[in-house]
Amino acid sequence: MPPTVHVTGELPARVHEALAESFTLADRIEGVDGVLSVLTKRVDGALLDRAGPQLRIVANYGVGVDNVDLEAARTRNVLIANTPDVLTDAVAELTIALTLALLRRVAEGDRFLRRKARWSFSLEFMLGESLRGKTFGVVGPGRIGRAAASLAEAFGARAIFAGRGDEIGVVLETADVVSLHCPLTPETRHLIDAAAFARMRSTAVLVNTARGQIVDEAALVEALRNATIAGAALDVYEREPEVSPELLELENVVLTPHVASATPDTREAMGMLAVEALRAVLLEGRIPPNTVP
Ligand code: GLV
Repeated sequence: MPPTVHVTGELPARVHEALAESFTLADRIEGVDGVLSVLTKRVDGALLDRAGPQLRIVANYGVGVDNVDLEAARTRNVLIANTPDVLTDAVAELTIALTLALLRRVAEGDRFLRRKARWSFSLEFMLGESLRGKTFGVVGPGRIGRAAASLAEAFGARAIFAGRGDEIGVVLETADVVSLHCPLTPETRHLIDAAAFARMRSTAVLVNTARGQIVDEAALVEALRNATIAGAALDVYEREPEVSPELLELENVVLTPHVASATPDTREAMGMLAVEALRAVLLEGRIPPNTVP
């Protein structure tokens, strides 16, 4: 009998096929050898205990592992794998798409026309900001942060970075675009709060394609209402799938529903990486390279 794997959500067809080729797919988590979990699923001690002591690996379908209690996994000798690299370009691309949509008022212009408002071309109408010449501040210069910075540089922006342990003040105080790319950890939860907004330039914008809880969303609403900052472009939210209703009312806000890695190729590559990790551990007795330390 092949090892058993439980899946916590819907999978792209090709990923499901690949998984079914190597494993017996179990409807229930109790007694399985491996779990393939989508990133909205909380993987904690209780879930690991439900699976049982034979569980060897949880492959997380996502690069962020803030949904996983890593300590609970460690104490139960369960290996955690994630899906880095294959989504770097897709997330960096959406970061720039959101940045440009906000600066050049793309979503606002789209909403304007859909209201069937009267308009005609005019030299002072709906002027936006160019990314060229701006300072693009990356909080979290990992793979995705650096890729987003390269794309911003291709548009003529200057990139600056604040990494773990760095003082983020320089980025907050000098960047025109503050773009978040750090993982969500106890240290980064509400990293961007009222005090952080107060340090930003009033012309600066916040872009978040990382995790919603890095930002104090209530403080963001206040900062936007009081014009402490000029705008925000968000793919992730503090209480997903809920979005603070005030954000929906503001024109200087661009919103997407957690889709930064959502291209068919990227999602398939992420799934295949997760399947490879399950195969490594359960069929080959190998530690996969995408193990979370
Ligand atoms: C998406 O949010 C991911 O972490 O892969």
